Amino acid sequence: MDEAAEVVVRVRADGATELRVNGVFVMDDVETSSERLLAELVLDLGAREVLVGGLGLGYTAQALLAGDVERLVVAELHADVVAAVRAGAGAGPAVLDDPRCTVAVGDVRDVVAAQPDASLDAVLLDVDNGPDFLVHETNAAVYAADGLADAARVLRPGGTLAVWSMADSAPLRARLAALLDDVGAVAVPVDLQGRSEHYWVLTGRAR
Ligand SMILES: C[S@@+](CC[C@H](N)C(=O)[O-])C[C@H]1O[C@@H](n2cnc3c(N)ncnc32)[C@H](O)[C@@H]1O
Repeated sequence: MDEAAEVVVRVRADGATELRVNGVFVMDDVETSSERLLAELVLDLGAREVLVGGLGLGYTAQALLAGDVERLVVAELHADVVAAVRAGAGAGPAVLDDPRCTVAVGDVRDVVAAQPDASLDAVLLDVDNGPDFLVHETNAAVYAADGLADAARVLRPGGTLAVWSMADSAPLRARLAALLDDVGAVAVPVDLQGRSEHYWVLTGRAR
């Protein structure tokens, strides 16, 4: 955990709520369809026990808890992000108060490492902009072969690893295909201040 991180949640002049960590934009609540889709993809596949990294403004976790999830572990690096959601930012405290949800403050790699083999139906990774546009270089390890292998280790056969990314990534697809079956990428259309763009969710199923 990075105790020194400066976490700021503010309401901008356009009315949007924005999350910044150490002065760097993390996300806002203008366009959360891809964060929700990350959850909906695995709900559609019947996931009941899920690990998510990280919390952000809580929309992925909220979408999972709106479904049939029975156990949700959320890994969030910064305690102050959790505090902001508890204070009402984004999806708000209902996510944290849901008895199915446990928040572990720490690096998602450590939280995954603490999970038993084949114990989860899905692992959802949304801790950075994706492997090729990192805000935090230390997160390269999350998307590297070893990090993905550990995420695959905790999945039950047929379980899903899903990775949010601001762009499709052939190298990430290749690393996923070395570990998982049915690797694919879903393009999520988003409207970014009038520009039509796509975010991406890359997925694979455990063998
Ligand atoms: C883009 S936000 C996640 C958005 C989230 N899916 C939602 O629906 O709001 C990324 C979050 O991951 C956290 N984070 C960054 N690196 C992390 C890491 N290595 N382990 C756990 N959390 C991390 C950030 O502090 C931030 O809260």
